[in-house]
Amino acid sequence: MSEQTEPTIHRGLAGVVVDTTSVSMVNPETNSLTYRGYPVQQLAAACTFEEVAYLIWHGELPDPGQLEAFTADERSRRAISPELQQVLLAMPTDCHPMDVLRTAVSWIGAADPTEEDASPEANLAKSVDLLAKLPTVVALDQRRRQGREPIAPDPELAYTPNFFRMCFGEVPGDDVLRAFDVSLILYAEHSFNASTFTARVVTSTLSDLHSAVTAAIGALKGPLHGGANEAVMHTLDEIGTADRVSGWLDEALATKRKIMGFGHRVYKNGDSRVPTMQAELDKITADGRAGDLRATYDALGAEMLARKSIHPNLDYPSGLVYHLMGFETAVFTPIFVMSRITGWTAHVMEQLAGNALIRPLSSYVGPAERAVPPRS
Ligand code: ACO
Repeated sequence: MSEQTEPTIHRGLAGVVVDTTSVSMVNPETNSLTYRGYPVQQLAAACTFEEVAYLIWHGELPDPGQLEAFTADERSRRAISPELQQVLLAMPTDCHPMDVLRTAVSWIGAADPTEEDASPEANLAKSVDLLAKLPTVVALDQRRRQGREPIAPDPELAYTPNFFRMCFGEVPGDDVLRAFDVSLILYAEHSFNASTFTARVVTSTLSDLHSAVTAAIGALKGPLHGGANEAVMHTLDEIGTADRVSGWLDEALATKRKIMGFGHRVYKNGDSRVPTMQAELDKITADGRAGDLRATYDALGAEMLARKSIHPNLDYPSGLVYHLMGFETAVFTPIFVMSRITGWTAHVMEQLAGNALIRPLSSYVGPAERAVPPRS
């Protein structure tokens, strides 16, 4: 681009269509989200997370035989090596769990002899491997911080019950298992969001899948993206009871503070995933187990809508749901990773199938060209 041309700047790439994708479609006009053509609400109502993972990678829902082979493969890959376990146990106990996850994926990549094999078959196998191992890492990390021994994965259990058992030593009731599965289905994929785009940028240089996922974890960690589900709990804690919401919001809005779990770059009239997650929240709080927290949650949602016309995003209900399930707040975003690994890796494979290096331009606003002064 010549210096004379006045370029159009697209800050934050807002509104820019960068490429095509067949993985998912977000339509803010109709407030819909589809994975491979299927509305996410229908998938959440009818499918397990394993079925949706298969759909995202293969483009079609599995038949019973395909599902059996897929889940057998996933269950066989859950154990992590003693060496990786040592690495994770050596990490500082006060570091963020996303740092642990990022390190784990990087280590798994370094130890994978197929790391440089970018064929679709090898990348699919690596993707299933990460799907299987991430819960083991997240659970081990949560337990080591509590001074507890890790619990080995149980290949007899499906994905979600196995994760709960590894975290808490027991499997909860069906309502909790279902709510967790629904959250994973809703988090699995969302077109060119910041972390997925990060994975595609890394892949576009022909780097490897684990490097792309490691970078995506870094992008997801931030509170403007996946880190918001964790930040929601801090906000609810900071506010305290429902009667404090108005005053708290007055001050937060006056200081131009972003309220975590609200707003979205694409959805301006509500996040298509929220009603489905909210329904799960309603079910698990029907017995009153949320206490004052639920009232504070409802009051903040109502005030944000009434005063700013800003709707909650998926992180708002899911943050509270994960808290009520007993997870430590810092584990919420790693749980998001356990789900979004499906979408990220589907995009890695799609990027490779029709690759173009992602390298945008910038408009220079620094000093005009000048001579380097003599150095003494
Ligand atoms: N709290 C307060 N005001 C907000 C919020 C919010 N959460 N979200 C948007 N606004 C306001 C902005 O201040 C801005 O107001 P102004 O025009 O008066 O300056 C206006 O709405 C537009 O907001 P932008 O930040 O320009 O919108 P953008 O599309 O860039 O941001 C984002 C989207 C980053 C998600 C933003 O809404 C935000 O910071 N939300 C809080 C963090 C969050 O919940 N992130 C999770 C996203 S979903 C996900 O990752 C699963």
